[in-house]
Amino acid sequence: MVQAWYMDNDSSNQRLEHHRKPPEFLSLEDLYKKTGVEYFSININTYKSDGVLDKIKKDRGYTYEDEIACSKECLPNYEETIKSFYEEHLHKDEESRLVLDGSGYFDVRDGQDQWIRIAVSAGDMIVIPSGIYHRFTLDTNNFIRTKRLFIGEPVWLPYNRPADNMPCRKEYLEKQEKGFVTAY
Ligand SMILES: [Fe+2]
Repeated sequence: MVQAWYMDNDSSNQRLEHHRKPPEFLSLEDLYKKTGVEYFSININTYKSDGVLDKIKKDRGYTYEDEIACSKECLPNYEETIKSFYEEHLHKDEESRLVLDGSGYFDVRDGQDQWIRIAVSAGDMIVIPSGIYHRFTLDTNNFIRTKRLFIGEPVWLPYNRPADNMPCRKEYLEKQEKGFVTAY
């Protein structure tokens, strides 16, 4: 079940929850309004035939998909790879992930440059907009399997911060300033 909260400023072990004291949770609606991150709930047992994911794919124009697993067994140089996922970056395209198994954290910056942590597990699908600074980490379970979706030929290239002069970054900031129109 997805949850989102503001992170503390403790930079130790990225796999921990990093709640503030007391915790400061956000609703999915607030998450969307502040960041443009979209959320969809998918039934992992029926998604191949229930039409929900198919409709999202059609609506958003996703034509490519694959699956990727992250664990100590699946990834060479696990610790280094996990650290590289955790480098703050952005993409020219949106980042769409459906969690099929396991769990992890997507962290995104809000308009005040504060980190919001989004905890995802099986059935959670999130769409991180183009041009938003973000990062990913596994949690203490050290396992996640996700479906990656993309419009056209996939490009996974990260641009590490600072990337403030990129057109996608400027477009994102303009949208954020105008306010993301609620999808709910
Ligand atoms: Fe990314």
